[in-house]
Amino acid sequence: MSSPPVQPDSQVPDNHVIVLFGATGDLAKRKIIPGLFHLASAGLLPERYRIIGSAPAAFAMSSDAFRAYARDAVERFGTSKPEGVVWDDFGRSLSFAVADPDDCAGLPEAVKDAEAEIGGHVRRLLHLAVPPDAVLAMVQMLGSSGLNENSRIICEKPFGVDLASARKLNGVLTANFDETQIYRIDHFLGKESIDNILALRFANRLFEPLWNRDHVCFVQIDVPETLSIEGRGAFYEETGAFRDMVVSHLFQVLGFIAMEQPTSFEARPLRDEVHKVFETLRPIDPANVVRGQYDGYLSERGVAPDSQTETFVALRAEVENTRWKGVPFYLRTGKCLAQSRQVITIGFDEPVMRLFPMGRGAPRWRGNKIVVDFADPGSIHAHFLAKEPGPRMNLDAAEMTFHYKDSFQAANNLEAYEHLILEAMLGNRSLFTRSDGIERLWEVATPLLENPPPVERYALGSWGPDSIERVIAPHHWCLPQ
Ligand code: BG6
Repeated sequence: MSSPPVQPDSQVPDNHVIVLFGATGDLAKRKIIPGLFHLASAGLLPERYRIIGSAPAAFAMSSDAFRAYARDAVERFGTSKPEGVVWDDFGRSLSFAVADPDDCAGLPEAVKDAEAEIGGHVRRLLHLAVPPDAVLAMVQMLGSSGLNENSRIICEKPFGVDLASARKLNGVLTANFDETQIYRIDHFLGKESIDNILALRFANRLFEPLWNRDHVCFVQIDVPETLSIEGRGAFYEETGAFRDMVVSHLFQVLGFIAMEQPTSFEARPLRDEVHKVFETLRPIDPANVVRGQYDGYLSERGVAPDSQTETFVALRAEVENTRWKGVPFYLRTGKCLAQSRQVITIGFDEPVMRLFPMGRGAPRWRGNKIVVDFADPGSIHAHFLAKEPGPRMNLDAAEMTFHYKDSFQAANNLEAYEHLILEAMLGNRSLFTRSDGIERLWEVATPLLENPPPVERYALGSWGPDSIERVIAPHHWCLPQ
């Protein structure tokens, strides 16, 4: 894809030194480095910037080697090719400095040198893409070395593994950074079609009047993945599908679907409304949860032979407020499933009277559905019933569809990470998660974490264990369509 043109109203961030911790890791290679280069190609990086890749001494490399590493990452995973003047400038901005979690080594010097090269007022963006067990020490090191000054810190999930560890992490973060400096990143909130939920709901009169318990009979957030754990056995054993996907991503999506209209899209009012949803989310009842484990998981590297870690989870959540009381929110996600999809379905009640006969192809269930497919590039579908052509008044299933890729200039697209890194440089925290929100979600998760139902086996390429129908009855999973 070619580079997006800078849009006329785009803001350009202040001059920055960006320090990428975990620069030799998978996330940096696949997403962050290619994303930063895409921002550079789009003219969305600051006028003057330096990017310092950092990793523990065991992964040390020269700045030249880091440039070659970054070029390879952009070549393999980027949407913009590493060539021409843009690459030359970007490449020149890259350097490498060692920092261990408990020893900042030469990093503060390297940051100061980069700031001196840029000159004038320079901000620091510290992007922490490091393993969970290194985060606490790393944050303390940033505080004690003074790197926390004039900086913003992007923290990757997981934000703890339960309420106690989330509180501890938040405590260490706020002891070393002001809350206004902290950007907890959930890349789902950077996806165009998730942000578009706000536009769909609050910029239109068409949907919002129906967006409540008087008309909606269920909500599904379904994120099956064909991917396996991809060699991340050790990480996955500590997390599992519920922590990795539901607490981190699916609950955040639920927050956007269920929230009330904020007074503006500034960070405080927007996050206040999301937080109110989390406050009214009922603690998860283990009886409403199915946990699954794919056949063969136990033979993955780094997995205990008797592991009870789930690679699949399906559950029913409830939001107990005036708008949603009684409407089930069904969440499902898992690895090694039949399809990779990211789909939200809002199911509407059937009309009170069944006046029309149904045609042969019509669905059994007559309610309408709005389906938001939020896998990039994303689409929205309204499913309704229409008259079948012919002399009789028979109904059949019909669909109205909006496809991002056909409707707007796809070249303006920013990938989720790119969007969020840009927002962090601009100092906009609207799409980043708040400490009290994270802690509340762990509170909601506690009954399940303390009393998880046993994992049930499922076949590779299936839709999970058979018992998932129990969680969703009397409704049905909308996938597969
Ligand atoms: C990550 C999870 O946060 O999100 C992965 O750790 C998951 O397990 C991924 O595959 C899905 O994100 P994406 O970018 O495919 O939407």
